[in-house]
Amino acid sequence: MCFATAVLIMTLFNFILAFTHKVNAQEFPPDFKFGIATASYQIEGAWNEDGKGENIWDHFTHTSSDKIFDHSNADVACDSYHKYETDIALLKELGVDFYRFSLSWPRILPTGYVDDGVNQAGVEYYNNILNLLDQNGIEAMVTLYHWDLPQHLHERMGGWLNETIVDIFAKYADLAFHIFGERVKYWTTFNEPYIFCQYGYENGTYAPGLASNRGVDVYVCGHNILKSHAAAYDIYDKTYRKKQKGKISIVLTAIWAKPSTYTRKDFEAAERNLQFQFGWFAHPIIKGNYPQVMINRIGERSTKEGFKKSRLPKFTNEEVRQIKDTYDFIGVNHYTTTMVKWMDDVQIGEPSAFNDLSVEEYYKDSWKSSGSAWLKVVPYGIRDMCKWIKKNYNNPSIIITENGYSDPKLILHDFNRTIFYKEYLKYLLQAVYDDRVDIQGYTVWSLLDNFEWNQGYSAKFGLYAINFTDPNRTRIPKDSANFYKAIVKTRRLK
Ligand code: NOJ
Repeated sequence: MCFATAVLIMTLFNFILAFTHKVNAQEFPPDFKFGIATASYQIEGAWNEDGKGENIWDHFTHTSSDKIFDHSNADVACDSYHKYETDIALLKELGVDFYRFSLSWPRILPTGYVDDGVNQAGVEYYNNILNLLDQNGIEAMVTLYHWDLPQHLHERMGGWLNETIVDIFAKYADLAFHIFGERVKYWTTFNEPYIFCQYGYENGTYAPGLASNRGVDVYVCGHNILKSHAAAYDIYDKTYRKKQKGKISIVLTAIWAKPSTYTRKDFEAAERNLQFQFGWFAHPIIKGNYPQVMINRIGERSTKEGFKKSRLPKFTNEEVRQIKDTYDFIGVNHYTTTMVKWMDDVQIGEPSAFNDLSVEEYYKDSWKSSGSAWLKVVPYGIRDMCKWIKKNYNNPSIIITENGYSDPKLILHDFNRTIFYKEYLKYLLQAVYDDRVDIQGYTVWSLLDNFEWNQGYSAKFGLYAINFTDPNRTRIPKDSANFYKAIVKTRRLK
């Protein structure tokens, strides 16, 4: 064969390969799962009905409404406590494989303690949801803790700042596995501890609104979360897994961090940003113990008082062993990307988590904005984030447990959201095919417009709109609902 023919054959071969790859790359793998998510406090309402106990967000919104953009609360929210049948009909309509929702701890245990008694009406509520999902062939992904701690626990023992919560949480988890586990395919213990520890115990912008012991409590919160997670995993693993055959893990914040320039310093800063955020929880769970960069930096630098002692609590060797490998997959909540620039260490002042990390963050002007200041549209970030997790954390199975876009007002022809999903999913498929990341599923945030924490009702993430002055809380499909429905049905992007 002459050289020219060989080149021709090779070119043709490559062309066919590239073409088939392109065709396949539009298609999700056959066992890939599509879901959609909500969380108890954000949608349920019925805040004081049928024996439910108060939670820290009920208390926070009632006592510090100035911290909520529109001074609202979720006393009624989407009224899903009364409208769960309607919600499940929407899930059916969308055709999703699974529904991710969370249990309100104080709806089941009004004080938080198992020994103080179970609220049967709360159990019934979740029983009804799980049974209806089952009848409709929709799998359940249940989060045990999506930020609504029983207020009683906070007041009585300090909530996440007191390590005795590990045992209290473990008992609640055990009860939930026992009652609901037969019908739950995926459990996640905690949703985004990075966010609720930072905002709840460092900045004070989220419930319970503490900001008085900066640079200390935030890490105590994370420490107790990790131990609670491991305790719940252990109970599931030893007592329930064999019979119930579910999977269990945690859901982590995953904001992609892009170095500002191609310099060693900016790369290091971006890497540190990821370790202080995702690695803070992923590292102990996947590798054992905190990322070295956190161990090195927290408290190591001097402050006004010459603070030298590490403020990052330490795990015993036994605890490291208990926490390591407590995941069957990693739940990844990805929305956006941040640019990261090196910043010289802040040497004086009170300790704070911000100073411990010491990087400058900003968004590029060219990035499209949304109804949330923190959410810029950067579709390639989802691919880079997944690649980074694969490389740094032993190629774990990943489920994207949240991804979504907010509008600042009720928009039914939500073109921006549709484009957002199209673009992010395109890059997700590249992670699956080109980077061979083991991504098993994808979850839209959210089914409904709902209470978006300190943004109140001013940021709307739903595929279904709700007019919050409408007493019926009618659910109205947006264009994006049809878009997602088509993707779930065809299992392809185009
Ligand atoms: C993450 C949280 O889990 C969820 O509660 C929140 O509404 C979305 N992100 C959007 O901010």
